[in-house]
Formats: sequence, C-alpha cells, structure tokens
Amino acid sequence: MRSASKNSIGENNSIAKNIIVTIDGPAASGKTSVSRLIAQRYGWQWVSTGAFYRGLAYVAIHEGVATDDEEALANLCQSSIWRVQMDPEQTLVYLHNRDVTSEIYREENGSAASQVSQFPKVRTNLLKAQRQCAENVNGLVAEGRDCGTVVFPNAHVKLFVTARTHSRAERRAFEQGKDVEETKQAQVKRDHQDSSRTVAPMQIPPNAQVIDTSDLNLDQVVDQVDAIIRKQLAQQSLSPL
Ligand code: C5P
Repeated sequence: MRSASKNSIGENNSIAKNIIVTIDGPAASGKTSVSRLIAQRYGWQWVSTGAFYRGLAYVAIHEGVATDDEEALANLCQSSIWRVQMDPEQTLVYLHNRDVTSEIYREENGSAASQVSQFPKVRTNLLKAQRQCAENVNGLVAEGRDCGTVVFPNAHVKLFVTARTHSRAERRAFEQGKDVEETKQAQVKRDHQDSSRTVAPMQIPPNAQVIDTSDLNLDQVVDQVDAIIRKQLAQQSLSPL
C-alpha cells in the first residue's frame, strides 16, 4: 500500500513551508469536518489517517484475510493491491484500482478498523505512508487518534477535538440514518478499544489545545481552531498563508 495526493504535491511550490497541524479525537467528535475546512481555508493538504485503518480492514475482509491475524495484516499493509490517496473532500481508498471510499466509511467498517489498528506491526507498517503525506507540502492537516503523539510528534500545532458521548452519537446516527442508541454503543466500544490499546492509544497529546464541540456549530469550531492555529504559528514566526 502507498499513499499519494491527487495532484502531485508541491509541484508548484519551490519552497514548501511544510507546516503540520494535527487534530486528534474520538469517533464523531467533528475532527474530520473541521480539519477538512481548515485545510481548504489555507490551501493545504488534508489527510484522515483513519482511512488507512479503515482501508486495511476493508481490504482484509475482501481478500479473505482474518482481521485478528497480525502477521497477515502486517503483510497486507505493504501490498500494492490497495492505496490511500489524499483529496480535498475525502481521503480516498482504492482496491485493485477501484474506488471503495464510500464503503470504508460505514460504521461497521469503523469497528473492523478499530480491531486491526490494535496490532503494533500494523501500526508500524502504515506509519511511513502516513508520514509521506507531509512531504513537499506547504501545509498538512492530519487527523486521527495518534497524529500528535506518534505520526507527527513535532507538529507545529496540536489539537484534540472532543464532544459529549451523546452529542457524538446523535451526529453520526443522523449522518448515517442509524439508531442513536445503537450508534452510541458502537462508538463507546470503539473509543474504549482505541484509548486502552497498548500501542499508540488515543490520548490528548502533550501541549495540545482541547476543544469541546458539543455546544458549538461547525463554523464556530472552525473559527476557534483557526484562531488557535494562527496564534500558535505566529508565536513560531510562521503564518498559515
Ligand atoms: O477516524 P476514524 O473513525 O475514521 O478511524 C477509524 C479507526 O481507525 C479508529 O477507531 C481507530 O481504531 C483507527 N485509527 C487509529 N489511529 C489513527 C486514526 C484511526 O488507530 N490515527
């Protein structure tokens, strides 16, 4: 598996600024929507690192690889039959050159992703492709669970976006036309798995700014995140634009 941007990254940028912002947080906290909008606002690249785990789980199921077989999954990470591609709207996944993105984002596949993401060898084998997303770019917003702790520990700005469990379940259930209680149970299980695993657990990165989005609309969250990024970059004598 490899990762690539839709347009050759940095092709027109003779001096890439290479600013990295990470946004971590639990399921349905709003991190995807906010990170995508922030990247669009600055003209930066954006990657949802969850797509790597979702992609792997999907590919494993389709290729008949057991989702509890660490060795086989670790090998599958390196297979060229699938790839992850950055895109301004959604991080895309291709299997045998077929776009399977809409299938990987179903909640059932989120649970399978959480299962395969527990394995240390899987995480190690996906790390390189995740880090490649930051090569030759003016800026990158990377979102996930361990972006600020493991993938980009030296990121210029780190955020952790969260929301009350019920608000998160309501949002995801609404998006996917599912029952709120069922969605809540699946998310609680996934968050517990993601935060209690031994390798790269979901956690608030040191020095990260925490934003609770429960009582904010998307515009308000984007404005808060934008203000934090500008302030922290200014302290480092950098500007997002
Ligand atoms: O963010 P998203 O819901 O797409 O992530 C799907 C799953 O992928 C998470 O529940 C988690 O198990 C895994 N993941 C991870 N590390 C990341 C991003 C996602 O373990 N950086």
